[in-house]
Amino acid sequence: MKKRILSGVQPSGQLHIGNYFGMIERMIQFQNESELFCFVANYHSMTSINDKVKLEANTREAFIDLLALGIDPDQSTFWVQSHVPEVTELAWILSNFASVGLMQRSTSYKDKIANGLKPNMGLFSYPILMASDILLFQSEIVPVGKDQKQHLEMTRDIAIKFNNSFGEIFTIPEIEIDKSNDIVIGIDNQKMSKSYKNTIPIFADNDTIKDQVMNIVTDSAGLNEPKDKHTPLFKIYSLFLNDESKKELADRYDTPGLKYMEIKNELIETIISFFELQRSKREQLLANPDEVNQKMILGQNKAKKIAQKTLQEVKSATGLL
Ligand code: ADP
Ligand code: TRP
Repeated sequence: MKKRILSGVQPSGQLHIGNYFGMIERMIQFQNESELFCFVANYHSMTSINDKVKLEANTREAFIDLLALGIDPDQSTFWVQSHVPEVTELAWILSNFASVGLMQRSTSYKDKIANGLKPNMGLFSYPILMASDILLFQSEIVPVGKDQKQHLEMTRDIAIKFNNSFGEIFTIPEIEIDKSNDIVIGIDNQKMSKSYKNTIPIFADNDTIKDQVMNIVTDSAGLNEPKDKHTPLFKIYSLFLNDESKKELADRYDTPGLKYMEIKNELIETIISFFELQRSKREQLLANPDEVNQKMILGQNKAKKIAQKTLQEVKSATGLL
């Protein structure tokens, strides 16, 4: 039996190569070996976006970008979170199994407040909505980055408490922290993140990609010295190379005479050609809004079926008429 894998992506800004190599590439691979559930988490984004036009545009853009990158709505279940509002009903039910103490220990909540987000109840109960996303679809595996691990522990805690009271209603999900994919470094050598404005966006125009690559920080090693490979230019370029090409690049770094400018020019070409097919798929989707709408409806219908079944079981088990 194929395992059911679920993940959500917040539509909070342009997708970048850190998102791609950190998560999206893996989700696309999962499509063949597992049963993939993937959604655009627009309810979650309300914790940071307070603007109708922006939320609508970002949600649509994230859906189109993920389609263009290879999420296949025929093979997988791919939807916009708010198209299946059953998730909010389950979130309410689950909130009765989530202790305030557990929520208060959320490091992500504390970090977000420290970064200036408003401490409202949406942000505070975000982990309950995330638990609902996961449990509603009886997900077996939830692949996430380290930053999301605590949310998954909370999900398991809530599900175990619920099952103890009402029987084996929910699948208890496994936490899968991906160790193979390191954090992708941004052009300034910090973690690549849209909050740090140090990204290379996947679907930016060629000039923006050029500018961002030209802005990758380099050291001042002389032309005739070997170059340091623990640097963002080497690390970012390596993401696009197979083992053999990575070794060739390493050899060039070890050989005197290497000019960073040559490497940067090659990297620009490499990035642009790596995403060429996806870029033209995206253009085609942008020009065909009806096709995108149909794919949204397909995902909504597939997701709703499962969501309604779980919710019915939960309501019947808990005594909600
Ligand atoms: P950002 O940090 O740009 O706001 P998000 O927090 O929206 O990105 O992350 C969406 C997904 O992409 C998460 O699963 C996260 O683990 C992954 N991700 C984001 N940035 C990176 C990175 N620099 N390296 C690896 N994975 C990343
Ligand atoms: N919280 C996740 C993030 O910020 C997005 C998300 C929402 C999610 N619901 C989920 C991820 C369910 C995995 C499973 O990246």
